[in-house]
Amino acid sequence: MQYSKEIVEKYVETRDEYPTHKCIFAAVEKYLPHNGSVLELGSGSGADYAVLQQNYRVTGSDYSPEFLAVLHQRFQQKFYPLDARTLDIPAGPAPFDAIFSNKVLHHLNLAEVKQSFVQQARILNNGGLALHCIWQSSSDETEEEDAHGLPCYSYTRGHITQAAGGFELLEAIEYPEFEEKDSLLLILKKRN
Ligand SMILES: C[S@@+](CC[C@H](N)C(=O)[O-])C[C@H]1O[C@@H](n2cnc3c(N)ncnc32)[C@H](O)[C@@H]1O
Repeated sequence: MQYSKEIVEKYVETRDEYPTHKCIFAAVEKYLPHNGSVLELGSGSGADYAVLQQNYRVTGSDYSPEFLAVLHQRFQQKFYPLDARTLDIPAGPAPFDAIFSNKVLHHLNLAEVKQSFVQQARILNNGGLALHCIWQSSSDETEEEDAHGLPCYSYTRGHITQAAGGFELLEAIEYPEFEEKDSLLLILKKRN
């Protein structure tokens, strides 16, 4: 299942009206020295890519051909067609000091989130960071919805930290995207 051109156009238009919460960039600055290399998963409209590339060497990616078309048009940079579940990226850009995503992992079921973290550990440098913003579930249940025809889950921090077995949790920051504590930024460090 993929996004249609219409859905992507609408998303890009709306996303530009909702700036990323400032706590996210503050956390990146806290944990990652400037000029570090960052792989962004699911760059989408490129809203975060545009900010991150001011201080970091960022490799953007997405698995959706429609979003990739928007990214190429907006930035005239190379963006990788990359699935967060497999992270099949060549050596050259990889390995990275950090992997970043904003509202991407919720499209993966829990087994796929686990698989993604195994792949993230593979393409991170020793001690590398994984910084992921997710929709936060208000109960221990994994909530499933349909967003634009794609599966969509919300997880607790426990779901994610258990799936990220090869990583140590450094910090979890709750923040509001639309409602109080509806979102969670997890900062994880690859275990050596
Ligand atoms: C809600 S949008 C978020 C986009 C962007 N990160 C932002 O903050 O606006 C979800 C993004 O994840 C991408 N995506 C969904 N499933 C993916 C997967 N398995 N691998 C990589 N990207 C995926 C979509 O194509 C889309 O760009």
